[in-house]
Amino acid sequence: MTYEAVVFAEDLSKEFGSIRAVDGISFYVREGECYGFLGPNGAGKTTAIRMIYCRTPVTSGVLKVFGLDVRRYGREIKSMVGVAPQENNLDPDLDVIENLLVYSRYYDIPKKVARERAMELLRFLSIDERRKEQVTKLSGGMQRRLVIARALINNPRLLVLDEPTTGLDPQARHLIWQRIRELKRQGVTMILTTHYMEEAEQLCDRVAVMDLGKILVEGPPRELIERYAGKDVFEIRRVEDEGFLKALRGLEFSFEKAGDTIYIYSNNGDEIGRRLFSIKDIEVLHRRSNLEDVFLKLTGKELRD
Ligand SMILES: Nc1ncnc2c1ncn2[C@@H]1O[C@H](COP(=O)(O)OP(=O)(O)O)[C@@H](O)[C@H]1O
Ligand SMILES: [Mg+2]
Repeated sequence: MTYEAVVFAEDLSKEFGSIRAVDGISFYVREGECYGFLGPNGAGKTTAIRMIYCRTPVTSGVLKVFGLDVRRYGREIKSMVGVAPQENNLDPDLDVIENLLVYSRYYDIPKKVARERAMELLRFLSIDERRKEQVTKLSGGMQRRLVIARALINNPRLLVLDEPTTGLDPQARHLIWQRIRELKRQGVTMILTTHYMEEAEQLCDRVAVMDLGKILVEGPPRELIERYAGKDVFEIRRVEDEGFLKALRGLEFSFEKAGDTIYIYSNNGDEIGRRLFSIKDIEVLHRRSNLEDVFLKLTGKELRD
């Protein structure tokens, strides 16, 4: 099979009645890369990827997966894609390994092969010791790992992960990140959505920053950060003083105000630091910029909602 990109989308839209959940987005995903959709709740991330794995029809635009038009080749595409949806949707009446085996039947995987593959995946995600347990007894992190294992049962060439770590504690999150990196080393092409900028920075080769159904910017995380936010950020709190704001406007650096905080962006942190730290009665935090700053710079609002 020849195709130029694993996923190719041009002017892709999805409407629910009068809501334009995805509004004319264009992007492509290369073989072997991890591509991320980053954005707040309601940005259109889930809708975008549900079209990719042929779970919901497109309203307009071009969408091809492995070179195949999603409108015509849903069955073929589904057989090559693994999906971990946003909600865990495990079968509570079945134990851990049965949840995988039931799934393997959709793909006509022979029983013996399915059992071997299921054990291998449970080991890979460190839940093999719990294989006989009811899924309702598993922690949130384990349930999430089981959903990822299930997404891998058909040996997919494209793995789609919708918010793989939302709501998990840091240990559970780091374990999932390690496994995602391992899959990437094995050559699995991945698309994930997240509203954690750290997750996108850790895992994704390229990200599309989304808001209100549109892609605002796209590129490698570090490049986006340097282009839009610069290297350094100073967060200044407890600033009610209009005089101070006026003084800031007079200086040659860009800043955003969100909630009780002013964010100053710069590639020349030392110089700005010296000037800010000499001002009395303000609280200044100096840190490296991240993808959240890109979002804030582009939209004027914070990513968390
Ligand atoms: N099945 C649906 N019916 C109607 N509106 C929907 C449906 N699914 C999503 N939406 C709307 O589309 C927009 C984007 O939602 P979604 O793709 O779930 O965003 P995200 O995953 O980024 O949080 C939201 O305004 C949401 O309410
Ligand atoms: Mg979503």
